[in-house]
Amino acid sequence: MSGGGNVEAAALARAVACEAMTRFSLTTPIYYVNAKPHLGHAYTTIVADALARWHRLAGDDVFFLTGTDEHGLKIERTARDAGKSPQEFVDEVAPEFATAWQRLDISNDDFIRTTEPRHRVAVQQLLQACYDAGDIELGLYVGKYCVPCELYYSDDDLLPGDLCPIHRKPVETVEEENYFFKLSRFEDRLLEWYEQHPDAIVPDFRANEVRGLIKGGLRDFSISRTSLQWGIPLPWDERHVTYVWFDALTNYITAVGYGSDPERFAEWWPVDYHLIGKDIIRQHCVYWPAMLLSAGLEPPKGWAVGGWLLVDGAKMSKTDGNVIDPLDLIDEVGVDGFRYYVLTAASYGNDGDFSYDGLIGIYNSDLANNLGNLVSRVTTVVGSKCGGIAPAPRADSPLAASAAEAIEANAAAWDVVAPSRALDATWSLIRATNAYLEANEPWKAEPGPAVEAVLGDALEVLRIVALLAWPAIPTTAQRVWERIGLEGTVAEQSLSSAAWGGYPGGAAVTKGEPLFPRKKA
Ligand code: MSP
Repeated sequence: MSGGGNVEAAALARAVACEAMTRFSLTTPIYYVNAKPHLGHAYTTIVADALARWHRLAGDDVFFLTGTDEHGLKIERTARDAGKSPQEFVDEVAPEFATAWQRLDISNDDFIRTTEPRHRVAVQQLLQACYDAGDIELGLYVGKYCVPCELYYSDDDLLPGDLCPIHRKPVETVEEENYFFKLSRFEDRLLEWYEQHPDAIVPDFRANEVRGLIKGGLRDFSISRTSLQWGIPLPWDERHVTYVWFDALTNYITAVGYGSDPERFAEWWPVDYHLIGKDIIRQHCVYWPAMLLSAGLEPPKGWAVGGWLLVDGAKMSKTDGNVIDPLDLIDEVGVDGFRYYVLTAASYGNDGDFSYDGLIGIYNSDLANNLGNLVSRVTTVVGSKCGGIAPAPRADSPLAASAAEAIEANAAAWDVVAPSRALDATWSLIRATNAYLEANEPWKAEPGPAVEAVLGDALEVLRIVALLAWPAIPTTAQRVWERIGLEGTVAEQSLSSAAWGGYPGGAAVTKGEPLFPRKKA
């Protein structure tokens, strides 16, 4: 065979392997760029990142999307107040999100900005498809609008004094010609769709909430404004600018080739999971599938709805002055310390409370004490009792069952987007291993087979922990991997290698600096 033939054969083998891989795609909400990234944005993005990494480890072909929501009245006004054009303004703020995500080790495959040309094409195509289907009609809008929410409210939704229920600020009265999406036509189709896809929304109780919203009756919603310039014009009536939520939701299909690359779109749509906060359920779980159905496209396969990370019981807001910059917290506890905290502080779906004491408390107990101690004990004793050369694990180790349980529990938890449950399972294994070492006290025993057996088992646990914890704390997992003498990166491993018995004896183990120096409480 010629050299070219070999290259072709290798390419074919890769293509076949790729074909066999399961595709898994996920998205975060795209964030408004009226202010810089805060803890709430970081929370959803870190959960998404850990889920993306879990699926890569599981061998899936992953597409992980995040980005920024840059049109609409809120941005137009914020830019004006800053004395800038909207374009100038968004060009300054959007990179702050991209940079923050880089610093937090977010492994997104794409970063979409709604001001990009590819997005304009997709929005106009989707609008046209819904219009051609007869689901968009001209009407007169008379009602109330909350600019920070970029949402229309009916009088029943408002707090006394015409205040927005989320921002507690006065809404604006709007009267103008708008095009409307005929959402009211979709009640039955949506209910039927959710009935056929009962597991599409996690956690479960959020699915009930969505069914309740639909059964409560759906009102047509406005999809255009004439009193606004900063947005994408409607393809059939350029006096109107697309309503920011219709524009924003479309980002999810823009990024997988809608309007530009039909083959790629067919491969990657529908998405596996949209990760969203509980405040944007209606737009994502009611408006969005209806828009897609109208255009003849499939709704998403899943939504994972998170609660809020509250600060002293309240949602962060500029007005309340309780906005926390995630980058300040990295300076305190490191990237992995922060990632671990947000992944465990709340069970995803419910609200959690952020507190500085909680951050330091979890850092000290789970990272410095449990994981940090285990790594330092094992590597130190392998140094002193085995000359730094790793003993092999035993096939019949008493820890093997705990490890198998942790692997299984991780898979089950990530399957339903429950990171705190996944990490809890891994930390149970860490605690069981610390207890095992305390019961056997290898540091007190004479060098020999008994000590080697205990340490070989503990090293194997560290290898498995490095794999299981990698989605949450990738840098630390890699450090553990290297300290126990393993080659390559955790990123290139596969979950199937986590099964007990994969640790090779004979590796050179090194002690190194403490992974997580204790912090003063
Ligand atoms: N731009 C829209 C989303 C469009 S998606 C097509 C938006 N942006 S946002 O920046 O205001 O909020 C984005 C997400 O951040 C929401 O899911 C919201 O729930 C989440 N969070 C904002 N503050 C939060 C907390 N304090 N805690 C957790 N998440 C919170 O809405």
